[in-house]
Amino acid sequence: MVRNVQRLRGRAASSPGEAVFLNLSGDADMFVRTGGKRRDFLRVAASSALLAPLSAPAGKALGAEFRSKNERPGLALIGAGGQGKGDAMGASHFGDFVAVCDVDKNHAEAAKEHHRIGKGKAESYGDYRKVLDRKDVDAVIVGTPDHWHSKITIDAMKAGKDVYCEKPLTLTIDEGKKLCKVAKETGRVLQVGTQQRSDHNKVFLLAVALVRSGRIGKIKKVTAAIGDGPTGGPFAKESVPPELNWDMWLGQAPKVDYIKQRCHSEFRWWYEYSGGKLTDWGAHHVDIGTWALGMENTGPRTIEVVKGELPVEFKNGYPTVADRFNTTTHFLVRATFANGIPLEIRDDTENGVTFVGEGGRIFVTRDRIDLDGGAVGALYKDPVSDSLLRELRKGKPLDGHMENFIKCCGDRGTPVSDVWTHHRALTTCHLANIAIRLGGRKLTWDAEKEQIVGDAEADAMQTRPQRAGYEVTA
Ligand SMILES: NC(=O)c1ccc[n+]([C@@H]2O[C@H](COP(=O)([O-])OP(=O)(O)OC[C@H]3O[C@@H](n4cnc5c(N)ncnc54)[C@H](O)[C@@H]3O)[C@@H](O)[C@H]2O)c1
Repeated sequence: MVRNVQRLRGRAASSPGEAVFLNLSGDADMFVRTGGKRRDFLRVAASSALLAPLSAPAGKALGAEFRSKNERPGLALIGAGGQGKGDAMGASHFGDFVAVCDVDKNHAEAAKEHHRIGKGKAESYGDYRKVLDRKDVDAVIVGTPDHWHSKITIDAMKAGKDVYCEKPLTLTIDEGKKLCKVAKETGRVLQVGTQQRSDHNKVFLLAVALVRSGRIGKIKKVTAAIGDGPTGGPFAKESVPPELNWDMWLGQAPKVDYIKQRCHSEFRWWYEYSGGKLTDWGAHHVDIGTWALGMENTGPRTIEVVKGELPVEFKNGYPTVADRFNTTTHFLVRATFANGIPLEIRDDTENGVTFVGEGGRIFVTRDRIDLDGGAVGALYKDPVSDSLLRELRKGKPLDGHMENFIKCCGDRGTPVSDVWTHHRALTTCHLANIAIRLGGRKLTWDAEKEQIVGDAEADAMQTRPQRAGYEVTA
């Protein structure tokens, strides 16, 4: 019986048969440690265990649709901050940036001049609509703050562009419904930037596959631990920097004076622009939890707030002060699915996703997976099935997240982080926020009708007032 799970790479188990250690990084081979001595390592070649079933090309060749036009897709970056630039650097392997856009001129210029993005040749813009008018833009990467994701993505899909949009895809549940509708109507490819579904060392995919194939038995509980949210403020008003179009940055959100900490990077700690930790990290770990449970096309029945602390006073679901971070700081929210399985989202344990089953336990975080119980013993004797892995990857090889997107643009396949399942996972996060913002009351969710039942005030919070001219419409 496995009693002790080794967590650190290279550490020996205390006695044979006790501990298990997986390393899926580096050359992508898999090592399963079943005992205390090095020779006890059982090397499970990638070909026999996890990776090979998906390493063969699936569908048409990379970017096939594009190649017939102009060899490589024409790309545009909209929102050239920290993450947008990182995404664009990844995409530059597969296509050419002809346009970069940011409401902060300095960010747009830096991306334009970047040796891997604009290479000094791309045109820079301050208004994304002009980018969408360009016929030579096949696909756009959206790296704006959350409150702009839905509008830009919908406008891009309607303009015939494929979209890689950062997570969390939406500011509200209602935006998610609209995005699903437009994606279906237009048939455009939409990849969400939840790259844990394509993580380089495959630990999340492995965890999901093990849970789905019953290796730890019937699941009793899932925990998505995502860290706490910061407090901050009071912050001072400042004059708007000359390079920034503050009105356009605010977009659908209420018009307010410029406070530096509302803007770049720190926007995620304000409900006006984001959902705080619950959507920022919930988008990743709640997604993995619901994917593993096979609940990614439905939603929870109930949402209970065990703990939900806000850094400022809220009234009717909205913050009462304007100069401090206002998203939740400490929380434990329990979302229970129709089959009775609770998924807890909490701030106070190590960042990662834990699956507790009747026959074992799996903890997975970036770069590490701990397996306890039947999960691993069975893994090398009986590898995860090819068909399950193919299903999880939607028939695509184990590529990086951006490559998966570009391949789907080429063969019109469904990307691994599709809009429909992301919308569902993020709905759980949005519901958790709504419940906390309303003082911690229990919510009942009808996942089929996508309605909060018996609580009109909470249900109305599926959407928000939007400034004229910036409405998100399907
Ligand atoms: N996948 C991940 O692991 C991951 C990691 C970090 C950030 N993100 C996501 O990436 C997004 C951006 O985060 P960040 O940290 O890079 O923020 P950031 O503030 O550094 O960058 C956002 C950029 O978008 C620009 N922008 C705002 N409104 C715009 C508009 N209407 N048109 C064009 N540009 C606009 C801003 O001026 C800024 O340059 C967020 O949604 C965040 O959640 C994802």
